[in-house]
Amino acid sequence: MNAILWCVVALVGTGECIRVPYQVQSKRMRNIRQEHVNTQDSGISFMQRLGQDINIPSSWDWRTHGAVTPVINQGQSGAVESYVAADCVASYGQIHGGTLTSLSSAEVADCCLQGSVLNPKVFDCIRGIGGLCSSSSYPSQQGTCGNTTCTASVKINGGINLPPKDEKMMQIALLSNPLIVAIDAGQTSFQEYTSGVYDDPNCSTTQLDHMLMIVGYGSEGGNDYWICKNTWGVNWGMAGYIWIARNKNMCGISEMVAYPF
Ligand SMILES: *[C@@H]1O[C@H](CO)[C@@H](O)[C@H](O)[C@H]1NC(C)=O
Ligand SMILES: *[C@@H]1O[C@H](CO)[C@@H](O)[C@H](O)[C@H]1NC(C)=O
Repeated sequence: MNAILWCVVALVGTGECIRVPYQVQSKRMRNIRQEHVNTQDSGISFMQRLGQDINIPSSWDWRTHGAVTPVINQGQSGAVESYVAADCVASYGQIHGGTLTSLSSAEVADCCLQGSVLNPKVFDCIRGIGGLCSSSSYPSQQGTCGNTTCTASVKINGGINLPPKDEKMMQIALLSNPLIVAIDAGQTSFQEYTSGVYDDPNCSTTQLDHMLMIVGYGSEGGNDYWICKNTWGVNWGMAGYIWIARNKNMCGISEMVAYPF
């Protein structure tokens, strides 16, 4: 992390800081910095106020800040959330001053999924087990949580779940960390995606069967998009990434959104 690029803007929960990139701060930040936010709900209203007070950049990409681990291929494993959640926490570690380390998706699967494919409380669980160990220090223990067999590389304070259908807030939240989102990945057009802004009106906003990590956003030719990291290897999409249309709840992308704090 480049310390000059960042500035603490607020206290959340028990003294945790939200950081936003230096270049999006405005003068009114000084006032916000004094506020102490106690609950997740007020954390969200804080984000709303923050959105009115910052100059939101027209584009953002956490990859250019060295905060995103390489694309993996989940293969036949159904536990996509374990990969995406571990990725989000790895980014959190780098953004909060650590080196970028791939964290153990096996530990998430063993300790925090409990058979559920979409667990909105996954980051609270990761807090509860004391953070995540590196991929190399925690191999799969086949569903038995072995969080005491290794030392956590990154600790978090829990998760924030955003209210659904608010892509403006997602944009603000993204400036503090990559986001985990659920989507409908069931369309052939998604599976065969190669490049450009993905926009298929047949995509469902309710049949959410897959998860991605949003690492940034931008616009191309008037089409807004999210930069999303998939777990299907680098030969899928654009080197493992997909641009998904932004501000139209494409494939339900704004229905279930969370990130660690
Ligand atoms: C392991 O997880 C349990 C909760 O499941 C927690 O109480 C304990 O502190 C964790 N151990 C370590 C070493 O983090
Ligand atoms: C959407 O679904 C209809 C009916 O199944 C099909 O004809 C059409 O080609 C689909 N559109 C896309 C973009 O896949």
